[in-house]
Amino acid sequence: MDAANVRSARIAGGSLTAGDTMEDYLQGNHDYWQQGYEAENVESFVFRPYGRILKAELGLDGSRHERLLDFGCGSGASLQFFKRKGFDVYGVDIAVPDIERCQRRMPDCADHFAVIDPKPSAGTVFFGGNFDIIMGIQAFYYFPTDDFQALMQSIYNQLRPGGIIWATMIGTKCWYYENSVDAGNGLREVRFQRPRVSVDRYFIQFTSSEEDLLAKFHLFEKVHVGYYDACYHEDEGSDFHYFFIGRKPLK
Ligand SMILES: C[S@@+](CC[C@H](N)C(=O)[O-])C[C@H]1O[C@@H](n2cnc3c(N)ncnc32)[C@H](O)[C@@H]1O
Repeated sequence: MDAANVRSARIAGGSLTAGDTMEDYLQGNHDYWQQGYEAENVESFVFRPYGRILKAELGLDGSRHERLLDFGCGSGASLQFFKRKGFDVYGVDIAVPDIERCQRRMPDCADHFAVIDPKPSAGTVFFGGNFDIIMGIQAFYYFPTDDFQALMQSIYNQLRPGGIIWATMIGTKCWYYENSVDAGNGLREVRFQRPRVSVDRYFIQFTSSEEDLLAKFHLFEKVHVGYYDACYHEDEGSDFHYFFIGRKPLK
């Protein structure tokens, strides 16, 4: 792994060291996510596309120990699912408690997980790159337009030719959108207070349509586009997310 991209030493305590400065959006999102992401089990919007598309259609079933990177892996539920299938799994995230949870969950490959710099850079390479699949499930949208483009370039560079990107992107139909204001450069700041959850200084790039989705992932050939949605509480609303599977061209 490119040591310059890994900040586990610098932010091991969950806060930045004195002298560090971060753009406001990065600092806000970084602070928000240090609470960790409690997700014990693999989500249906992960295991269903695995069965229906990766395995059934693309022949990516883990039997060849395919290299899989989960960007914004949270506490590792998806990675544990894919590891059990035989994939060679790697995960990166900005949240210290989540990476530690991944390491406790999968101690035999604890060095496959790293806390990373919140700001993406086009030249970043994690764990030597050359991945068969890079997934970003509810994790690629915490960036303004220019940082998102840098992230996509780095994802592209780290996929082998023909490799698969798998992304889910929050839509403007999600209830967070109506609780957000323009923060410039493609970002919106989400703020709301509810009995269950309060959100403050939390920055998201929303996706408005399938065309917008395809434009965001223009470096990749489209394989499939879809969405998933749910609503659990009338005071909250839709959880709408777009779904994208693309391929790095073989050239
Ligand atoms: C909604 S959670 C999803 C976690 C996981 N992908 C899942 O589906 O269970 C979003 C994740 O993105 C991570 N994240 C937020 N900003 C990030 C950044 N700048 N770089 C890397 N990860 C980030 C958070 O720490 C969090 O774990």
